[in-house]
Amino acid sequence: MTQTQELEKIVLIGATGTIGKPILAEFVAKINRFKRLAVITSQSTYESKGKYIEELKAAGVEIIIGDISKPESLKETFAGFDTVVSALGRAALHVQLDLVDVLATITPSIRFYPSEYGTDIRYDPETSPHEIPHQQKLKVRAKVEALASEGRITFTYIVTGPFADTFFRRGNLAGVLPDGNTYGIIGSSDPNLQAKISGTTYSDTARYVVSSVLTPEASENATLRVSSFTAKPANLQVASEKVLGKKLETQYVSLDEHRATEKQKWEEKDPWATGYTLLRLWYEGRSDFSRKPKALYLVNGKEVEDKEKESQLFRDVPQRPLEEVITEILGA
Ligand SMILES: NC(=O)c1ccc[n+]([C@@H]2O[C@H](COP(=O)([O-])OP(=O)(O)OC[C@H]3O[C@@H](n4cnc5c(N)ncnc54)[C@H](OP(=O)(O)O)[C@@H]3O)[C@@H](O)[C@H]2O)c1
Repeated sequence: MTQTQELEKIVLIGATGTIGKPILAEFVAKINRFKRLAVITSQSTYESKGKYIEELKAAGVEIIIGDISKPESLKETFAGFDTVVSALGRAALHVQLDLVDVLATITPSIRFYPSEYGTDIRYDPETSPHEIPHQQKLKVRAKVEALASEGRITFTYIVTGPFADTFFRRGNLAGVLPDGNTYGIIGSSDPNLQAKISGTTYSDTARYVVSSVLTPEASENATLRVSSFTAKPANLQVASEKVLGKKLETQYVSLDEHRATEKQKWEEKDPWATGYTLLRLWYEGRSDFSRKPKALYLVNGKEVEDKEKESQLFRDVPQRPLEEVITEILGA
């Protein structure tokens, strides 16, 4: 085990995206706890998101223009930080493979947060390695863990399940449907046959990331499963109805029907196929974190529990009542 230092010099990549923005905002809210807070962004984003970038600068965030697809060119920049938080989008996940090679040449070793924030890609050793949307993240994990085993890097994975903010509004399929009067559930109409789903809001995802950075030893070389709620779809509908103050009709699509549509989407190379797979995984209960430890630590190539370390995690992130979470999401 490496001696864990305080993590005080933080650089974010992908910080201008959907989850990057709330994560950065949470770091900004706690900026006094850090010696450096920076983002590396592309020239085109710098130009196109000018107002946002100016707000960041005013808040004390360093803005570094760079090409993250050429991480070697940023080696000296990375060497000025102890923590790299990635929130790169799906289309850029592969960039992290070269990035970790560069990070692994820096001493003392860098803490890397790969762009995860999603489905628990190791929920089942038999099936999860074969799911198409998992492939890039699994490759990144394999490389990160090989380097971590050599002590050349440390890592933290933040696994969130579905982002609650969009989970409750999944187009015509799930959650509160666009007509505002129907709630879509993929699965059985019998709640006893429905699996539980753990989901996390953008704001809680950000709180968990920053909290883990502030407890470096308890989050070193760890997979951390976090959530704002764990509930069955039927219970999520009831809570949504309370928040909206009205009953919603339920639209059920069976899992078999959904699997058939998902297969067709992949065959047609539909760009939304990934979304269909993720919905299936969630409604099959693959992101039910109540069945798994909150933290798993990589020790000698094996993932193990450590209740003492786990108990130090996320003391500053309160679990909120489900209806409060849904109120935040539905903007009710
Ligand atoms: N749990 C869920 O329900 C859920 C839903 C969506 C996403 N996610 C996960 O969250 C993570 C981040 O996804 P996101 O949706 O927040 O990302 P995003 O908004 O699509 O993109 C994030 C940032 O990545 C940077 N980037 C650089 N090159 C890129 C490229 N070729 N393609 C896309 N982005 C590029 C851009 O920042 P700069 O221009 O500043 O470099 C961009 O703003 C991913 O791991 C994704 O799987 C989870």
